[in-house]
Amino acid sequence: MTKPLSIKNLVKNFGGLTATDDISFDLNEGQSTGLIGPNGAGKTTIFSQIMGEYRQTSGTIELYGTEISKLSTPARIRLGVSRTYQVPRPFAEFTVLENVRVGLMPDSIWKMITESPNVDREIELALSVGFSESDLRRTPDELSMGDLRKLEMARTMATNPRIMLLDEVFAGLTVGEIDQIAKLIQKMRSENMTFLIVSHDLKALEPLVDDAIAINYGKVIAQGSFASVISDKAVRTSYLGT
Ligand SMILES: Nc1ncnc2c1ncn2[C@@H]1O[C@H](COP(=O)(O)OP(=O)(O)O)[C@@H](O)[C@H]1O
Ligand SMILES: [Mg+2]
Repeated sequence: MTKPLSIKNLVKNFGGLTATDDISFDLNEGQSTGLIGPNGAGKTTIFSQIMGEYRQTSGTIELYGTEISKLSTPARIRLGVSRTYQVPRPFAEFTVLENVRVGLMPDSIWKMITESPNVDREIELALSVGFSESDLRRTPDELSMGDLRKLEMARTMATNPRIMLLDEVFAGLTVGEIDQIAKLIQKMRSENMTFLIVSHDLKALEPLVDDAIAINYGKVIAQGSFASVISDKAVRTSYLGT
């Protein structure tokens, strides 16, 4: 069966720095994988290359068997992949609802301005991530970090992805907010979404993933069940400091 995502020998150089250094891994359909490693390990750079925001120096990325290296970001989104950002990136002038609308029309902002909005779908998405009716008209400056992460999730879900890449989904959240996002992820897992989830909060991550990949200095240092990865010696010394 073709894999939702297959990465082979991915290298990304930024000048003299190799941010991803010969990374290879696959994701299986409906499986949820944790991506862990210290700050600067290369996690976000992997996401950026999958989405086509950065072009890799070498190596290949396949989505459902299609090599995507030459495709634009919107074309990749159409193939079923989408991401959230470590630092939420809402449009500051737009309301919650309008920000979700941007996700529904990833090709261009013009499309959004000229096409009549699918308001029912926008509302459904915003409510499904836990916003209340009264939140829909709020602007990002009125939102907590938890709300901003919910908005990232809604914008990402708006593209109808089959693979979601979540970057530091729990960073800056309260325990209650973590719980809300975790429930949302669990619901989508039960609907067969394929996930790749970056999180420093291993306690929150563990129940959400089937397996894990650990990277350090741009290289995969351990891969397998979550338990085996976090008990791996190289992972413990490089990341967990034990
Ligand atoms: N646009 C960029 N230009 C130069 N260096 C970058 C750029 N983006 C990331 N890096 C570097 O690449 C390495 C990996 O960064 P990143 O992927 O953000 O790590 P992580 O998400 O695991 O914390 C870091 O050393 C970082 O400084
Ligand atoms: Mg990062």
